[in-house]
Amino acid sequence: MTENRTTISVASATLAFACVLAVPLVSAQKENTAPARTKKDNSVYAELTKAPRKAVARRNPLERDPDAVAAGANLFDQHCAECHGNMAEGGRKAPSLLADPVQQATPGTLFWILTNGVVRRGMPVWSKLPEPQRWQIVTFLKSLNPTPKPAQ
Ligand code: HEC
Repeated sequence: MTENRTTISVASATLAFACVLAVPLVSAQKENTAPARTKKDNSVYAELTKAPRKAVARRNPLERDPDAVAAGANLFDQHCAECHGNMAEGGRKAPSLLADPVQQATPGTLFWILTNGVVRRGMPVWSKLPEPQRWQIVTFLKSLNPTPKPAQ
């Protein structure tokens, strides 16, 4: 009998102790998954979702032009690499263009972004580049088609 009681009180003491431990663990976990960072990361590409439907649907007239990729790569080197990185991988000044929101955007959406920029957030307007050159850049961006890195 006494032995049983001891077991029970040890068990409840352990339970109480476990609860005391668990509470800070749970709240620590919550802090780690604070939404602030995720929100910030996504908002870098938020402008892509704001393109008007007509712009989104616009076809790239140079989609199948065999020279457009090389020409677009050249233009990218000249105008975009300084912020977005030589391989469009992103840099200190601007986000990666290999990321899903950019790669999955329609050519028309990317053309719209280039034409209008996101000036208040540091992405310049490229309407001074003739339209065919903007489409060449779009063709180049679409050709990057990054494959996921193999697990290491
Ligand atoms: C002066 C630096 C700078 C240059 C040069 C630049 N960008 Fe950007 N770009 C940015 C920044 C900063 C953002 C993030 C803007 C934001 O937070 O929405 C951005 C965003 C983008 C996006 C994502 C759109 C979005 O939702 O913001 C695309 C696509 C893009 N740039 C393409 C290009 C291309 C193509 C060129 C070259 C013609 C270029 N950029 C040149 C700074 C630059």
